[in-house]
Amino acid sequence: MTEYIMAEVLQIADGLKAEKYRVLLPQVAALSAGETDDVALMANVSAALRETFGFFWVGFYRVQADELVVGPFQGAPACMRIRYGKGVCGTAWAEGRTVVVPDVSEFPGHIACSPFSRSEIVVPLWRDGRVWAVLDIDSDRPDNFDETDARCLEDLCGEVFPR
Ligand code: SME
Repeated sequence: MTEYIMAEVLQIADGLKAEKYRVLLPQVAALSAGETDDVALMANVSAALRETFGFFWVGFYRVQADELVVGPFQGAPACMRIRYGKGVCGTAWAEGRTVVVPDVSEFPGHIACSPFSRSEIVVPLWRDGRVWAVLDIDSDRPDNFDETDARCLEDLCGEVFPR
């Protein structure tokens, strides 16, 4: 019985989350329309996601040579540079796919910028056929990200950042 109720609660929570993304996407698209400066776009996307969902840390890392370098973000100070293939961000870059980490302590090589981070999602941004940046979101709640976040964040980044 408890399991059944929990499943129901999770389903409702997921629906609410999807609804929040559904409302947010056109707002962010309107806010970004006509803007071509990536730093400006990253700054407002970070702020919009943080304001909407209260995530612990939201921000971008940009590819520079063989490293990711921190870009606009909202939250506590974070590590400046991440090597190709390292941590969750470097893995998403190297593998060119969104990485969802339900429990950061279980992810081999996870780079802990804060002891409060419990789960994480990293979405690669594509331009000219290669990954040029990643969106990184940390939650202080375990298991906070799923396929809904992956799909909606990919859509949002695809909408905002010109390829
Ligand atoms: N946890 C990330 C590092 C960046 S911070 O979370 C802001 C990683 O493992 O790549």
